[in-house]
Amino acid sequence: MSHALEGVRILDFTHVQSGPTCTQLLAWLGADVIKVERPGEGDPTRGQLRDIPDVDSLYFTMLNHNKRSITVDAKKPRGKELLERLIRHCDVLVENFAPGALDRMGLTWERIQSLNPRMIVASVKGFGPGPYQDCKVYENVAQCAGGSASTTGFDDGPPLVTGAQIGDSGTGLHLALGIVAALYQRQSSGRGQKVLAAMQDGVLNLCRVKLRDQQRLARTGVMEEYPQYPDGKFGDAVPRAGNASGGGQPGAILKCKGWETDPNAYIYFITQAAVWEPICRIIGKPEWIAHPDYATLPARLPRLKQIFDTIEQWTQTKTKFEAMEILNQYDIPCGPILEGAGRGTVAARHRHRGGSRSPHARQVPVGGQSDQAVRQPERSDPLAVARRAHRSDPGRARLLRGSNRRDARRSRDLDERCPTPPPCSMPAGCRPALHPRPRTVRGTLESNRVCPHGCFRCRRSSAPRTSSPASRGSRNCTI
Ligand code: COA
Repeated sequence: MSHALEGVRILDFTHVQSGPTCTQLLAWLGADVIKVERPGEGDPTRGQLRDIPDVDSLYFTMLNHNKRSITVDAKKPRGKELLERLIRHCDVLVENFAPGALDRMGLTWERIQSLNPRMIVASVKGFGPGPYQDCKVYENVAQCAGGSASTTGFDDGPPLVTGAQIGDSGTGLHLALGIVAALYQRQSSGRGQKVLAAMQDGVLNLCRVKLRDQQRLARTGVMEEYPQYPDGKFGDAVPRAGNASGGGQPGAILKCKGWETDPNAYIYFITQAAVWEPICRIIGKPEWIAHPDYATLPARLPRLKQIFDTIEQWTQTKTKFEAMEILNQYDIPCGPILEGAGRGTVAARHRHRGGSRSPHARQVPVGGQSDQAVRQPERSDPLAVARRAHRSDPGRARLLRGSNRRDARRSRDLDERCPTPPPCSMPAGCRPALHPRPRTVRGTLESNRVCPHGCFRCRRSSAPRTSSPASRGSRNCTI
């Protein structure tokens, strides 16, 4: 089955998390993503938080699989020339540089439009137009500036950030949707456009129920489903509500059997009005079914603490999975607290050659597409354009890596050879010491070892990994 975005070419200037999330989504949908990295360093996440020495970090690979990469110095004339060629051949340029950085490279909107009027230029920035528009932003800054932190946590504690990457990945999601809409509009307009996703706005949008509550609070001065009700006080701003439900059905996180030793032995329990009767029966309070203090939701609201304390006495007699099984029989909405590696949270996909290397990095089939991204080589492949430019001037725009098997095959087709004496039959850039650039792990995932040459095109070394210079040589590599 073909992919929804097949044929769409993305020039990917993104780094860290927000932008790469966006282009990764587009790649999953079938777009051909060419990631442009800075020579020598590459995306900073390649080297951050590594779990295997000398190998691209999990942080990098989980955000950048399914893409191709080149290194280009955008500030050198040759690099600029190459990028302009790529701009002419691509559909979308995605970037998340600090404000003004793209302009300083000479790639202003006007310049890009003159090169390719159909080009969509999509950006993640920390803030939208306004007093903070020139500020750099990372995840937690966005959570704080976007209204998430002030509403997360408990009433008697400080603001908290959440582990969900709503600032980075959340904004990447927003941007991807904007790009898809711009591509659609281009079909009728014939022209590209600018798309901006500001991280503050992205977080604010995901905090929409808190905005709703802010408006309600301004009108009513009280929120009866919040734990501050009825005894606490409400100020001007929406207070932190702990684990109270964000909707009209009261909920809480309750202890389960084993909570004393297991930090995740808890369950989220929602007292949905429609199933109040079975809830009362299960927790041993059948008298609450018709009692005027408990029979209706408005009657229950001032008593939520007492109600959840009683329910917790029951949940503590069950493990979270036992409780879940019982409650599900009666359609009572609930959810065990699962840790990242816990049962049912993540479908593991083991590290293997040419594929995802972590449970987090599984390829998600989207819209009926297979989970193998298969793109056919195209005659007008923009990287082929880059390669042609490279051939006429060796040393430019070195192809770094392919991000799937097909890309690896394509890389092997290159006719570039390493000029390093003694004559080396490896492709250009096989020796990181002589050709400083980020080392890639593509092709070596099979054995979880890095090729002794640090060569990304080497499928696998037949020799054991070693640092001995004598053992380094092209004869050990199968290209
Ligand atoms: N060739 C030449 N120069 C390059 C280059 C390339 N291929 N790629 C990057 N650079 C340069 C940039 O032009 C910039 O130089 P300049 O400031 O002299 O013009 C420099 O590298 C640094 O880029 P920048 O994006 O500013 O990185 P940073 O490390 O200083 O800041 C962020 C990182 C994330 C804080 C910043 O990029 C940012 O705020 N981005 C927008 C919000 C965002 O996405 N944040 C979330 C990240 S998960």
